Amino acid sequence: MSKRHPQTEAIRLQMNRTNEKEHSTPLFLTSSFMYDSAEDMAAAFSDDSLDVNIYSRFSNPTVDEFINKIAALEEAEEGIATGTGMAAVFATFMTFLSKGDHIISASAVFGSTHTILTKYLPKWGFEASYFDMNQPETIEALIKPNTKLLYVETPSNPGLDIIDMEHVAAICKKHNILFVVDNCFATPAVQQPIKFGADLVLHSATKFIDGQGRVLGGVVVGNKELIHELYLFVRNTGPSLSPFNAWVLTKSLETLFVRMDKHADNALQLAKKLEAHPKLNWVKYPFLPSHPQHAIAIKQMSNGGGIITFELKGGIESGRKFLNALEMLSMTNNLGDSRSIASHPASTTHSKLSVDEKKAVGITDGLVRISVGLEHISDIIADIEQALEKC
Ligand SMILES: Cc1ncc(COP(=O)(O)O)c(C=O)c1O
Repeated sequence: MSKRHPQTEAIRLQMNRTNEKEHSTPLFLTSSFMYDSAEDMAAAFSDDSLDVNIYSRFSNPTVDEFINKIAALEEAEEGIATGTGMAAVFATFMTFLSKGDHIISASAVFGSTHTILTKYLPKWGFEASYFDMNQPETIEALIKPNTKLLYVETPSNPGLDIIDMEHVAAICKKHNILFVVDNCFATPAVQQPIKFGADLVLHSATKFIDGQGRVLGGVVVGNKELIHELYLFVRNTGPSLSPFNAWVLTKSLETLFVRMDKHADNALQLAKKLEAHPKLNWVKYPFLPSHPQHAIAIKQMSNGGGIITFELKGGIESGRKFLNALEMLSMTNNLGDSRSIASHPASTTHSKLSVDEKKAVGITDGLVRISVGLEHISDIIADIEQALEKC
């Protein structure tokens, strides 16, 4: 049979059926696994190459099914799952960086990633430099002999900055630097960074991969050698994904492609509708021609994803009034849910950043992020328009 489409793999890739002949995938909610003999048990521990389950901190069939699906969708060789997206980010840094190494990161990254880079990594002797996603030509000058890893989110949270991954990958290849992409905003249904030269791709599965705001999870995919290193780190330090969460996430992947199409369709309609709104300074969405990196977005992404941002005229006070006036949209700081969500990064996810840091990543007092859900688009637009009227 010819190679199946990713849409089909997201639905049909499944672990071997048990003797019960279940149709939907089973949940292996077990901490450990059994052996037929003392010799088998000893072999499981002494021979790392044996494909046997020992303990769910190391591996678990339900977690493996989730990993295998993400690896197939990202066109990666292998993967490793973690309990949260931040565990995926942190495990990646701790596995591939050694004392004295230098990391280059986009300044526009998720708040907790920024905290790891600026607060924790320096404590252990790693140093970091930052570049503006809008100025990729400045990257090469930051490279030092000890530069080991380059990190980006594209699109970034919450600024929706986009970078040409082929351009960055070529720089990384030339200088033998590991290129890591957080693909949380796009998901593999919209963009596959490995095709553009990324070495490792990671996700907060908590977002669009779950899609209904139920569980936390993370995943990293890449080639066999890199993932083996990560596997040993996760196996020994313990930020493993719960089998229950993996079961929720693997079932969610069955609807990922149709959900992402609908999120993007709703988001584009909303962005177009708001673009000329008198209460807004600007609206940003990757598939609006006004997005500064629109040409790169259409090269890398199959649609614009489900997130839009805009800036309210009137700053922090307008932001508060807007959020308080919403009748349907949820005021919460998760994203990637079937329910539309409004959030205010300056006072929540990025509140730990200093004024200068917020400025550097493009977070202004009036910036609002909308995670556009799957409700009827007219209802989403109506709620936002009536709330804008009250600002
Ligand atoms: C781009 C991005 N990366 C990583 C994370 C962290 O994921 P988690 O909350 O699952 O730890 C988030 C969370 O919002 C995110 O938006």
